[in-house]
Amino acid sequence: MAKTLILYASKYGATEKYAKWLAENIHGDLKKTAAVTKEDLAAYECIIFGGALYAGRVNGIKKLTANWDTFKQKKVALFLVGMAPPPNQGAIDSLPAAIKDHAGVFYLRGAVDYEKMGFFTRLLMKAITKEPKSIDFTEEKALTPLIEYVTQWS
Ligand SMILES: Cc1cc2nc3c(=O)[nH]c(=O)nc-3n(C[C@H](O)[C@H](O)[C@H](O)COP(=O)(O)O)c2cc1C
Repeated sequence: MAKTLILYASKYGATEKYAKWLAENIHGDLKKTAAVTKEDLAAYECIIFGGALYAGRVNGIKKLTANWDTFKQKKVALFLVGMAPPPNQGAIDSLPAAIKDHAGVFYLRGAVDYEKMGFFTRLLMKAITKEPKSIDFTEEKALTPLIEYVTQWS
């Protein structure tokens, strides 16, 4: 077992892509929020959480807020994924103060794949992002500041 867990929630795969790149780079264990137990969380020294923005809310963040007593005893970093151009400070600012005070928070640009969406989600997404076509902004090198942050933990 690694000492760092990369915990993530992903609907269309962008956050998952970043989580997998991260796991390769820092040799961490990888788990989805839906599959993780309190015991799993307790076993790690460091946890990196990743979730995408959906109408300003972070997918999967409940796992953090509901288990904050466990998280606050660990080294924690977050990466938020969204279509808005970086730095998307508004999304970072809207996180609970307890999380921002304790954890390093990073923002990464995601992807939109209209092929994977239903009609209404596609309409909503086009209105939010103004992107007329599917587009993928994910890139491994965007993880560099986060990797540097977690590397200074050890
Ligand atoms: C219904 C909907 C709402 C979204 N809301 C936001 C938003 O508020 N801010 C943002 O930057 N991106 C927003 N996005 C874009 C997603 O965060 C982006 O597509 C991300 O890559 C999805 O990651 P995932 O596939 O890992 O879930 C939204 C996407 C959808 C489909």
